[in-house]
Amino acid sequence: MPHLLHIDSSPRSDRSHTRGLTADFVQSWQVNHPNSTVTYRDIGRSPLPHVTEEWIAAAFTPPNERSQAMQDALRLSNELIDELLIADVIVAGIPFYNFGMPSGFKAYIDQIVRIGRTFLFNPDNEESPYTPLIHGKRMIAVISRGDSGYGSGGRNEKNNHLDPHLRTVFRFIGVTDLEIIAAENDEHGGAALVNSLESARRNILRLAAEDQPQKGDLAPLTRTRRSTKSQLIPDGRQG
Ligand SMILES: Cc1cc2nc3c(=O)[nH]c(=O)nc-3n(C[C@H](O)[C@H](O)[C@H](O)COP(=O)(O)O)c2cc1C
Repeated sequence: MPHLLHIDSSPRSDRSHTRGLTADFVQSWQVNHPNSTVTYRDIGRSPLPHVTEEWIAAAFTPPNERSQAMQDALRLSNELIDELLIADVIVAGIPFYNFGMPSGFKAYIDQIVRIGRTFLFNPDNEESPYTPLIHGKRMIAVISRGDSGYGSGGRNEKNNHLDPHLRTVFRFIGVTDLEIIAAENDEHGGAALVNSLESARRNILRLAAEDQPQKGDLAPLTRTRRSTKSQLIPDGRQG
């Protein structure tokens, strides 16, 4: 039974194009995968906290040495990571803000990119010190931009810092199957906006009909590694 994680991060409600497009995806995905389940996380209307000094100290303390306060500091992060790990497919609506992602989505990324849970660090391995812990997931990032030409060869391509950032950070934790669907022209409106939304919608419906990866990979929650370095030990669901 495939499981979908649906994330919206626009602070806008009905006027949000990313919300409309992710809703189209979910509706079509459920039709195409009748036995599927969906978790919804709205970080646009319910923003996540930024990481704090306590959070950072807790994340870099071995799980069995964390105080109750440290465990509390990581509770939401654990919840978000668990949500991600049980998903087969992630669809995330992300508005394009100031040439990158909105701070609300960055706060999400800072909560889920975590040592011992979504990546490992081994300073002894100089060639490749970081190991992603997520496997076998597909992610669809649904973006909307006010201007146009941010795609390949466009007049704004060099100003598009969102696509490369998403690819880098999700590849870092192991989400390598990342499709980016973008609508443009929200600020221009008219036919340019309508056509761009239609094109994005067609791509979204195509992706929603595709077969999805098998059940979410729970390996990071159970895998153990022998190491002298505490950072190498995945901390499972503790904390
Ligand atoms: C704070 C803010 C910053 C924005 N920065 C950009 C930008 O750098 N480039 C651009 O093309 N559009 C920019 N826009 C326009 C949004 O990308 C556009 O309205 C998009 O549709 C927002 O997504 P939503 O419709 O899901 O809310 C910005 C909008 C806001 C509110």
